[in-house]
Formats: sequence, C-alpha cells, structure tokens
Amino acid sequence: MLRVGILGCGTVAAKVADSLKGNKNVVIEGVASRERNKAKKFAALHCPDAKVFTGYEKLASSKDIDLVYIATPNTYHYEHAIMCIKEYKNILVEKPFAMSKAEADSIFFEAKNRNVFVAEAMWTSYLPLHKQIIEWIGKGRIGSVKYVSANLGYDIANVPRLNSPVLGGGSYLDLGVYTTNFALSFMGDDIKVARVFARKLSSGIDRDTTYSLESEDGSILGNFYVTMCADTDKDGVITGERGKIKITNINNYRRIGLFSKDDALLEQIEAEKDYNHGYVHEFESCAKAISKGLIQAPEMPWSRTVSIARINDTIRSMM
Ligand SMILES: NC(=O)c1ccc[n+]([C@@H]2O[C@H](COP(=O)([O-])OP(=O)(O)OC[C@H]3O[C@@H](n4cnc5c(N)ncnc54)[C@H](OP(=O)(O)O)[C@@H]3O)[C@@H](O)[C@H]2O)c1
Repeated sequence: MLRVGILGCGTVAAKVADSLKGNKNVVIEGVASRERNKAKKFAALHCPDAKVFTGYEKLASSKDIDLVYIATPNTYHYEHAIMCIKEYKNILVEKPFAMSKAEADSIFFEAKNRNVFVAEAMWTSYLPLHKQIIEWIGKGRIGSVKYVSANLGYDIANVPRLNSPVLGGGSYLDLGVYTTNFALSFMGDDIKVARVFARKLSSGIDRDTTYSLESEDGSILGNFYVTMCADTDKDGVITGERGKIKITNINNYRRIGLFSKDDALLEQIEAEKDYNHGYVHEFESCAKAISKGLIQAPEMPWSRTVSIARINDTIRSMM
C-alpha cells in the first residue's frame, strides 16, 4: 500500500483524492495546505481518514508518507520538489514538471544522488488507451508514423492561475504540455520545434498557441493547437504510411480507432467505465515502480520529461 501525501489543496488535488477513494493499492495518508482550515475542509470532503498538515514542510518530513503528490502552481513545482527530495521523499509532480529544462535537470540530479523516485504527473501517459496506441504503432499496424496532429482547448480564461505570469499561466504551459507529450509519445523524442504562433494578452500570457514540431530527420511532422478561450474538439490523429489512429479527447482518451489507409475502421476501443477516474493509473504506476525499487516510472521516464521541458523552453522563447 502506497501512502500518499497531497501538497496543496487545490482543484486538481480534489479530483485526484476523489479518484483514489476506496483504492486498494494507494491511500491518501495526509494533506498539506498553507492554511490549517483549508486542509481540514479538504480532508473532510475528499479523504476523511487523512492526517492534516499545516505547512508543506511538515508533510515532506513526515515518516507516514511514502510519496508526495505536488499539486501547487507551476512556478512552485521546482521549490517543492527539491524540498521533498531533500527529505528523501518520493514525488509525483503535476505537469508542467518545471518551468524550464534547467529546473528539470536540477530536480533529477538531486533525486539521482539520493536514490529518490520522481515522476511527472502527465496522467495521459499512464492511461490504458495510450498504451494501446503505442502497442498498435509498435506492431506496425499503421506503418511508419508520418504526421501527428492534435487540438486541445477549454473555455477556462477566467481561472486566476492561468492569467498569472507569476504562477506560470497561459495556454501552452497548461495545455500545450499535453499536446507536446502526445507528439513525443508517437513521433519519438528526437524532435525540434519548426514554428510557433501565439496570441498573447497584455500581461504576456499566451491565450492561444499553435505550433509545429518536426523530427530531426524531417520524416515526421506534427501540428498542434491549444487555447484557454474555447472548448474546441480535443481530438488527435496519428497518420502512418499504411493507416491512421484517431483519438477522441487526447486529454482523457475516450475512444481510439484504428483505420486503414482508405479510412475503413478496423478496430475501435472505448475507455473504461471509470473514465473520469483516470488519475488512478499514474498513482498505481508509482506504487508498482517504488515497490520494485525503481526511481522512474516506465510510462513517464525522466528523459521524456526533460524532452518536454526542452521543447517548452524553445516554444516559449519563440512566442
Ligand atoms: N493533471 C491534471 O488533470 C491537472 C488539472 C489541473 C491542473 N493541473 C496542474 O496542477 C497544478 C495545480 O493546478 P490547480 O488547477 O489545482 O491549481 P489551484 O486550484 O490554484 O491549486 C493550487 C494549490 O497550490 C497551493 N499554492 C501554493 N502556493 C500558492 C500560491 N502562491 N498561489 C496559489 N496557490 C498556491 C494552494 O494550496 P493551499 O492553499 O492548500 O496551500 C492551491 O490550492 C498546476 O501545475 C496545474 O498545471 C493538472
């Protein structure tokens, strides 16, 4: 049984805690907030058996916690990750893992030195349908991948965190990291940024970003669009030499379809019934990896997180 401590009692932490209710392999053992009453209220609503910690340091140093789930705003991930690693605490860090590749490198350096487990909570990578797509591609069902595209837009411009440069707001860091992970998962990690177009607010926040990625050898092209201003389709398509895979909602795979070159449906798989509880998979993966003595999650190895951070740096510098 993996005993998880939640660091930061915000929106996604609540969804995660609800998803883990009744889980046999993972239990929420503690919750920490900067404010005692907030943590108490959070625990009462989402995980009544959890201990309540006032201040993140107390959770990080607690002997009762095996893994700290860092669910604070983007610009705090580095500070909170380093604090936990220095306490020899395994960590699962919300996306985007860090604000730069330099921060990501530094976290992994400290974790490796102390033999501490670290994973990015890029929850889509841990979903069964994501693994199914990798299997189809690995078996050559669509031949070599040539082209990848995805859109991801939500009408969330009123969320304060997303409008704050200080908290690392903007559509790319919130949503683009999913499309970039989608790209790397199926195009490979040897990818460069070909072009970026961002519409920015006066604060400097990108409200919409469209960008293209290209494999270093020029054989695969990817096009992506993210926005925090509209509920767009969230679909993705992976086109290969001999067919394609269409994904309904790349942010929480609802359905995946395997198509022949002439667009005939060959196979279709729907998400499991507990579609809205997909956060479970990333925690179960951490539990399994830690029980085997691993310090990386196979679904989200450090090299992938570093590749995403490298691409994030380039895209943000080109906005
Ligand atoms: N995987 C997903 O599906 C998903 C979905 C949404 C967000 N996320 C990621 O999860 C992280 C948190 O997002 P969220 O939407 O949950 O944010 P949120 O609702 O604003 O919650 C963030 C929490 O961080 C803590 N915090 C620490 N310092 C803070 C500061 N200076 N300002 C504001 N809050 C501060 C607060 O907890 P206390 O007050 O309790 O200390 C706050 O409740 C982000 O990195 C985001 O990208 C992931």
